Amino acid sequence: MNALKTLNPYFWKHKNLLFYGFLFIIASNFFNIFKVQFVGKSVDEISNTNSLGFNKQVLIYVAIIVGSSLLTGFFTFMMRQTIIVASREIEYELKNKIYNHYQELSLTDFKRTTIGDLMNRLSEDVVAVRMYLGPGVMYVVNLLILLIITSIYMLNTNVEMTLWSLLPLPVLSFLIYKVSSIINKKSKIMQKSQSAISTFVQDSFSGIRVVKFFAKESYIEKSYGTKVKDYQDKSLDLAKTEAYFFTIILFVIGLLNVVILLIGGQKYMANELSVGKIADFFLYINILIFPFSMVGWVTSVNQRAEASMARINEFLDMKTDIINTNNEVYPIKGDIEFRNVSYVYPNTGIKALENLSFKIEAGKSLAIMGKTGSGKSTIALLLCRLIDPTEGEILIDGKNLKDHNLENYRKFIGYIPQESFLFSDTIENNIGFAIDKPSHQLVEKYSKKADVHKNIVEFKDQYKTMVGERGVMLSGGQKQRICIARALIKEPSVLIFDDSLSALDTETEENILQNIENEIQNCTSIIITHRGSSAKRADKILNLTPIENENLN
Ligand SMILES: Nc1ncnc2c1ncn2[C@@H]1O[C@H](COP(=O)(O)OP(=O)(O)OP(=O)(O)O)[C@@H](O)[C@H]1O
Ligand SMILES: [Mg+2]
Repeated sequence: MNALKTLNPYFWKHKNLLFYGFLFIIASNFFNIFKVQFVGKSVDEISNTNSLGFNKQVLIYVAIIVGSSLLTGFFTFMMRQTIIVASREIEYELKNKIYNHYQELSLTDFKRTTIGDLMNRLSEDVVAVRMYLGPGVMYVVNLLILLIITSIYMLNTNVEMTLWSLLPLPVLSFLIYKVSSIINKKSKIMQKSQSAISTFVQDSFSGIRVVKFFAKESYIEKSYGTKVKDYQDKSLDLAKTEAYFFTIILFVIGLLNVVILLIGGQKYMANELSVGKIADFFLYINILIFPFSMVGWVTSVNQRAEASMARINEFLDMKTDIINTNNEVYPIKGDIEFRNVSYVYPNTGIKALENLSFKIEAGKSLAIMGKTGSGKSTIALLLCRLIDPTEGEILIDGKNLKDHNLENYRKFIGYIPQESFLFSDTIENNIGFAIDKPSHQLVEKYSKKADVHKNIVEFKDQYKTMVGERGVMLSGGQKQRICIARALIKEPSVLIFDDSLSALDTETEENILQNIENEIQNCTSIIITHRGSSAKRADKILNLTPIENENLN
C-alpha cells in the first residue's frame, strides 16, 4: 500500500469529518445489533404464552426494534454524509491538483503524455482512488466494528454456535475478493473496447467529409460492426463473471442457515437454546454476510486504487523544465537577440535549429522565411518560452529570457499560432480571452483591425455567435483573423505571426497589414511567412534555408 500513503495528508486534512464518520459507524452498528435480541425475546414471549390476545411485553419489544431501526438508519445516513463526503472532497482536490500540474508542464512534456492519458488520470484513476477513500475505508471499519459488537452478543448467546457460524465468513470474503478481481480485470477490458468505439466514432464523424469523398462508408460501417461485436463479447464475458458475485453470497447465506438450523436444532432438543435465541442467530448472520462480502470487494478495489495512485503519483512527480524564478513586474520593450541558439526536439531527436543568431531592435520588424520544416515555428515557440533552447541563449531587452518573469513576459507577447485554435465559446469571448475584463468596444476595435468585423456582423448572433468545437463553424480565414484580433487586443510589445496570413487572399492580407501598421510600428514584430509580399514590408528578412542561414539582409 505504498502509493496510497501519499493520501495520508488528505485524510489528515479531513480528520474531523472522518472522526465523526467513525463515531457514526459505531452508533449505527450498535443499534443494528442491539435490536436483534428483542426479536428473539418476542419469539420466546409469544411461544411461552398461550393466549393470542394483546401482549404488552411484545409491544414494548416491537417499539424498541422500530426505534433501533430508525436510529440505525439515521446513523447510517450520517456515516455516508461524513465519510463519503470526505472522499468526494479529496477527489475534488486531487482532480484540481492533477489539472493544475498539466497546466504547469511545458510543451515537450505534453508530447510525452497524451490527451487520452490526461482524461484517464482525471476520471478513471481518480475514481479508483476515491473508491478506496470512501467505500473502501468505510466498509472495512464498518465490518471491524460490526464484528466486534456482534461477536460479543453471539458469544453471550452460545459459544459453539458462534464459532460454527462465523467459520465460513472469511471464506466468503476470499471468494468475493477473487471474483471482484476478475470482474475488475474484465471491466477494464470492456472499457477499453468501449473507448475504442468512441474514438472510432469521433474520428469518423469529424472526418466525415473525407469518408464520403473516398466513398468509404461501407468500410467504416464494417469496422464499426467489428468493434461493436467485440464490445458485446467483452460485456457478456463480464456479465458471466458478475453472475457469480451474488450466487456466492446467496450460497453462503443458504449454507449458514443450514448450519444454524442443524446445530441450533440439536441445542433446542437438548434444551440448551430457546427458539428465540436461534432466531437471533439467523439475524446476526444475515447482518454479517453483507459486510464480509464487501470486505472481499474492497480488497480488490484497494488493489486497483493502489495501481491508479501509483500512476497519478508518477505523473505528479514529473518536473517541468520551464521554471520561473523571477516575480518582478516590469514592462518589456521588445529587443530580441538569438545567440547561437540550437534546438533539438527531445521526443524525436530532430534538430530543428542549429546555431542560429540574429538580432531585432525594439519596434523593428523581421520576416522569417524558409522551407517547410526549417524551424520557423520552433523560433516562435522559443520566443514564447513554450520551450527552452537546447544550446545558446535568447536575450530579451538584453537579459536572458530564462531570467525574466515568465508570466509578466507573456503578457507582452502577442502570438498567432500557425494552427488557429478557438475555444467552443462565443466569438467575443474568444477574442477577449487574451486579457482580463475585455470591453465590447475593445473587442470590436481589434476585430476591425484584423479585418474580421465585417464578417462577424453578418452572423445572426454577431459577436455572440458560438464558434462550435474548435471553431468548426468558421472558415479557415475567419478563424485566423479572430486569432489575430485575440493577439492584437493584448497591445503587445512583441507580435509573432506564425504563417498567420496564409489562409487569406492577398487583398485581405493587404488590408490587415495596413490596418495594423500602427501596431506594427509600435512593437517588435516577427512575421513568419512563405509569401514574399508579406516579407517585403519587414525591416529585415531571415531566411532559414540552409545556405543562407546566417545571411541577414
Ligand atoms: N513537437 C514536435 N516534436 C518533434 N519534432 C517536431 C515537433 N515540431 C516540429 N518538429 C520538427 O522540427 C522541425 C522544424 O519544425 P517547425 O515546425 O519549426 O518547421 P516550420 O519551419 O515551421 O515548418 P512549416 O513551414 O511547415 O510550418 C521539423 O523537422 C519537424 O518535424
Ligand atoms: Mg511552422
